Amino acid sequence: MKEIISHVVAFSENLVIGIDNKLPWNLPKDLQHFKNYTINKSIIMGRKTYESIGRPLPNRNNIVISKTLSNLEGIYVCESLDDALNQARILNKNAQNEIVMIGGARVFLESAHLVNKLVLTKVKCNIDGDVFYPRLDFQKFTLENSEEYKQDDLHAYDFTIEVLSKN
Ligand SMILES: NC(=O)c1ccc[n+]([C@@H]2O[C@H](COP(=O)([O-])OP(=O)(O)OC[C@H]3O[C@@H](n4cnc5c(N)ncnc54)[C@H](OP(=O)(O)O)[C@@H]3O)[C@@H](O)[C@H]2O)c1
Repeated sequence: MKEIISHVVAFSENLVIGIDNKLPWNLPKDLQHFKNYTINKSIIMGRKTYESIGRPLPNRNNIVISKTLSNLEGIYVCESLDDALNQARILNKNAQNEIVMIGGARVFLESAHLVNKLVLTKVKCNIDGDVFYPRLDFQKFTLENSEEYKQDDLHAYDFTIEVLSKN
């Protein structure tokens, strides 16, 4: 079975993904989508993203890339992206064929040449931030699905969740 390596990310029109080690928005429906998409999968994240979340995400294999963090209950700490991918492959054996990169910027950038699936939440705003999603060549991907969400009392911005894939 073909291995899927994906990015699951939410970014603004100016490619912002974070500010002050937090998400720049609160979009409950996007958080629910993130949970639904990642559940029972192996997720790879950078140390700051892990600290921003503040705990291992339940019912997922939490793999954290860090050279400074010691092993903690509920997470697998790896020193490099390659080690993290190998750890995910061991954990996925006989169960899953997808490895999900959930950020931050360095993880997205270093894995950009490996990904064959993108699950993108495009938030309709230009916003201040200090962490950015890399400029990928989206032309190399085919749009598989797109769902629009409208601004409302709980969501400050319109956003679209797109799924793209590459052979
Ligand atoms: N909008 C979104 O979808 C989204 C998704 C994720 C995160 N975010 C936001 O992004 C921000 C955090 O991201 P960030 O880019 O600042 O940090 P990050 O990538 O989460 O973490 C950076 C740290 O991870 C380790 N690391 C990452 N890649 C590595 C590699 N290839 N090799 C070795 N170590 C590696 C290093 O840890 P050590 O220093 O411990 O060695 C590095 O200092 C927050 O604002 C968060 O809210 C947004």
